[in-house]
Amino acid sequence: MDYYNLAIKRESTRSFKKRPASGRQLTELQNYIPVCRRLFPEIAADVTVLGAGTPTLLNGCAGYHGLMIEAPNYLVISSAPHPHDVENAGFMGEDLVMKLTELELESCWITIRDPEEMRNRLHLPEDRRPMAFIAFGNATVMLPSSRLDIKSVSNIFIKQRTGFVAPKLAVDHAVYTKKWGESAEISSLPLNNSIYQAFIAACCAPSYLNLQPYRFLLDGHRVVMVCLPDEATASDDVRLNVGIAMLHFAGTMENHHPSDTGWIMGPPEGTAYDLPEGAQIAGYYEIDIE
Ligand SMILES: Cc1cc2nc3c(=O)[nH]c(=O)nc-3n(C[C@H](O)[C@H](O)[C@H](O)COP(=O)(O)O)c2cc1C
Repeated sequence: MDYYNLAIKRESTRSFKKRPASGRQLTELQNYIPVCRRLFPEIAADVTVLGAGTPTLLNGCAGYHGLMIEAPNYLVISSAPHPHDVENAGFMGEDLVMKLTELELESCWITIRDPEEMRNRLHLPEDRRPMAFIAFGNATVMLPSSRLDIKSVSNIFIKQRTGFVAPKLAVDHAVYTKKWGESAEISSLPLNNSIYQAFIAACCAPSYLNLQPYRFLLDGHRVVMVCLPDEATASDDVRLNVGIAMLHFAGTMENHHPSDTGWIMGPPEGTAYDLPEGAQIAGYYEIDIE
């Protein structure tokens, strides 16, 4: 998949036609599910495709303020426990969002508020916990260049999109040198540069309430992802955010340069970065360029 262009093209949709995805689209999606990207292939994680009865079935279990998004189709990723199960579900879920975007389907991540209740209502096995939940289908009239701008959970409105980074983090504000706060000035690179494209893709990633509570350090050939303290985002949503942004970065980077290791979780050994209080290293990525 062309991750860079798909990452730029994708935006959340909350208004869907009743018509479900076509048989061809659903077959292509089902064929892709077993080979979708994973952060940890060894984690047992199942993907279930659900239909239009889902909002009634899961009423109150999911969505901002418990408000479900009405769509003809949904994806649920349920996983066995693992220290990085949620990040892996975010990575897989966003890879499937990229596939949906390629199939010309629109989508929206939905917050899981009560995973236990959701597992019961979906009759998932005891050893699986639902971690990622995504609505998809065909959008009703799409405002051509608009997206949700969320100031807080009670102050959400549509804002005109002036460029692909707005209202997203701009790359020059998101990527620092190894010195916290010092811009790596990535935008001085040519636009076809793989590192520039991978950071643009990461900055276009969806996040809980669009808060994007993370930044990146570019230390030589190493990219370090740092999560900022953020009271609005619950820990599972922080971890989904991480997996999602990691997928955008890795997918785009690996369209140019295959990587043996991909993202490695946690801080790199033997290095100390001067981070703000409460900030934590989610993982790092060694760019494989000669
Ligand atoms: C973990 C996660 C949970 C989300 N939950 C919801 C939700 O419950 N309802 C909703 O309307 N959007 C939800 N979203 C979508 C975000 O609000 C959306 O990605 C963000 O506003 C950025 O807009 P964009 O996706 O158009 O770039 C969620 C996104 C993420 C990553």
